[in-house]
Amino acid sequence: MFENLKALPPDAILRLIAEHQNDPRESKVDLGVGVYRDEHGRTPVLDAVKKAEQRLVDGQSTKAYLGSGGDPLFNNAMQALMFGSGAAGSERIATIQTPGGSGSLRVAAGLILRARPDVSVWTSEPTWANHVPLLGGAGVTLRSYPYYDEAARTIRFPEMLDTLNTIPAGDIVLLHGCCHNPTGMDLDTAEWQEVADVIASRQLLPFIDLAYQGFANGLEEDAFPLRLFFERVPEMIVSSSCSKNFGIYRDRVGSLALIARDAPATAVVRSQVFNIVRTMYSMPPDHGAAVVATILTDAALRAEWLAELAAMRNRLRETRELFCAALRGKAPEHDFSHIERGKGMFSFLGVSAAQVQRLKGEFGVYMVDSSRINVAGITRGNVEYLAESIAAVL
Ligand code: LMR
Repeated sequence: MFENLKALPPDAILRLIAEHQNDPRESKVDLGVGVYRDEHGRTPVLDAVKKAEQRLVDGQSTKAYLGSGGDPLFNNAMQALMFGSGAAGSERIATIQTPGGSGSLRVAAGLILRARPDVSVWTSEPTWANHVPLLGGAGVTLRSYPYYDEAARTIRFPEMLDTLNTIPAGDIVLLHGCCHNPTGMDLDTAEWQEVADVIASRQLLPFIDLAYQGFANGLEEDAFPLRLFFERVPEMIVSSSCSKNFGIYRDRVGSLALIARDAPATAVVRSQVFNIVRTMYSMPPDHGAAVVATILTDAALRAEWLAELAAMRNRLRETRELFCAALRGKAPEHDFSHIERGKGMFSFLGVSAAQVQRLKGEFGVYMVDSSRINVAGITRGNVEYLAESIAAVL
């Protein structure tokens, strides 16, 4: 049977992890996969996470099955984090724990295919490299709306709105809640309002991927788009990830929130996703979600986590400024100010694929072929080398 299969190339983002690891050069710089790094280039386990894990080791009394929806404590806490304490108890929201944001997207794809197999999901152009294989591979029809102007290094907002205004009623629009991956360019409040107007009036269904809550402007601020949509539309899908904001990447923790018209509709949707999960992976892994629930339901741990999250957010902002200052020094004739305007971990450097290859081959500087950089890979220790390397290939 296996002779019928052909070998596939590894995922472009994940391949960079191995390539960087195997590079013997001391001066190498990893701006590839989206993991947060501190000033020393490390991705530490957060203190709040360590403490919550210790509590679990000491106090957890069973590891018996929880069920397809995961831990209700986690689900309630995530619902409050996303929708705010006001809407958290709404009967219109069903939230389940999922294996990371990717697992959430995959379950959402299953639900879409069951409910409306004929609809298209519209993604931003560009979008996270795995959105297309993940959702498209599940069988969902994908189309795209304009988002980023590579030449002008701005959001193509008028074109985006024009396209949204042509989408047939019932279709689904996938939006990055904050820290747009790969561009780092987010809509502002007024633009979100305009998008919400179009989505509501055209009866489109917003599908929000919230993988970086707390990394752009703040925990509450970053939830603004989904709270706006919650007020404006009868149905919505929200895929959320705890990989970045809790730093628990490999523990695979995320959630899927489904917003329905009313309590009976929510109950139907919940029963459907439970069934999808049962037939896909039965139930989500527990440990990371138990850590998140422990942190979010304990005042002291929560405060400690919020401080650690703010430190990550502030370092990303300061690093953008540091990097742009270094680039201004080494390549004054080039404008990289869009990197300073970006949010979260990613920006496009704005160089060609050939220049990306030169940066890797000649300087050991790793980034995705599109020239997406992970800003968190930049430190005070490597920023000058990085700016020199970039200037050399420009
Ligand atoms: C990224 O875009 O680098 C992250 O979301 C990690 C991943 O799985 O691709």
